[in-house]
Amino acid sequence: MSEFILPKPSEWDGEKRPLFLAPMSGVTDLPYRLLAKECGADFTITEFTNSTALTRDAAMSWRKMETCEDENPFIPQIFGGVIDDMALAAELLEDSADIIDLNFGCPAPKVTKICAGAALMGEPENLVAMCEAVVNRVNIPVTAKMRLGTGQGNFNAKEICQELEQVGIQRLCVHGRTLRQRYSGVADWDYITEVVDSVDVPVIANGDVVDADTARACLSQTHAAGLMIGRGAIGRPSVFGEIKVGLGWMDREELPWIAAYEGDWDSLSYVAKQFATRRWCWNRYIELARQTTGLDIKSMRGHAVSFTKGLPSAKKIRSIMHGKQSREEFAQATSQFLATN
Ligand SMILES: Cc1cc2nc3c(=O)[nH]c(=O)nc-3n(C[C@H](O)[C@H](O)[C@H](O)COP(=O)(O)O)c2cc1C
Repeated sequence: MSEFILPKPSEWDGEKRPLFLAPMSGVTDLPYRLLAKECGADFTITEFTNSTALTRDAAMSWRKMETCEDENPFIPQIFGGVIDDMALAAELLEDSADIIDLNFGCPAPKVTKICAGAALMGEPENLVAMCEAVVNRVNIPVTAKMRLGTGQGNFNAKEICQELEQVGIQRLCVHGRTLRQRYSGVADWDYITEVVDSVDVPVIANGDVVDADTARACLSQTHAAGLMIGRGAIGRPSVFGEIKVGLGWMDREELPWIAAYEGDWDSLSYVAKQFATRRWCWNRYIELARQTTGLDIKSMRGHAVSFTKGLPSAKKIRSIMHGKQSREEFAQATSQFLATN
């Protein structure tokens, strides 16, 4: 077993379990993954990337697979509808990756129409054969992320997970919604618990974990081997450290934005703490981007909107964005906005 995959734990007794930044297309670029780690995430995964495009050497797809020495472990996620392409893409990634993650959760029509992502849950034999082919092709651990099922007929994640452990998938992640639900409704942690109890490999629970209270509730109910956080971490990479502090897994003073704050943190209002936290995160994101991918205007725009969402006068960020500035000026203007409180 890899150093990055611990054996399945038993009931949850309040002890530390790993927190994962969910793979999110358009969000989890390399500097954001590095930032989430500094904020308390234990594992991060790239956004999903088309395996067929990787085998055809598509530059855009390979750019999504960019990593750096500090990213440890590096876990690229691939998707596709062609078994040979999935196996070949995994092989091409094997040298740089520590783990390969396979996507069976994406509900986007452009993915499901090629019978990839969550659509494969409607063809469980193909899904299992794909996993087996990838496991047999590479000498690093292979993990898989899926939904409850397609939403037509009964949920089938449990049966699929049981087969996947037989073919050598070493860790599973279940998002508690169906393909049909996309992101609506409430994540079904009851069914995730059934999956956890039905296999011997570790299962990570995903869906609707947004803070320490929901993290505690999800771990108590599912006793999953870890939690994966998606939307709750968009614009809020600090959520990982906040959960760890809330669950007593780390001291508040260890949170980097508090450690770096020069004044009296406790005297700040709730809103001022939000500004200070997000400012630290934004500035660090920019530093990490400069050190790795370089500043990418599209990624910066997306993150700037998310980092300022919900803050008073957040709309100002739109006018900052529409001004004619260089990337460095845009980074600076966003940082200044976050310093205004
Ligand atoms: C913007 C966005 C992009 C996503 N991209 C991916 C992806 O590339 N691969 C994947 O497996 N899931 C993807 N997901 C799904 C998330 O990983 C996660 O399963 C889902 O958001 C449920 O978790 P949450 O309730 O914590 O958000 C994406 C979700 C969002 C919101």
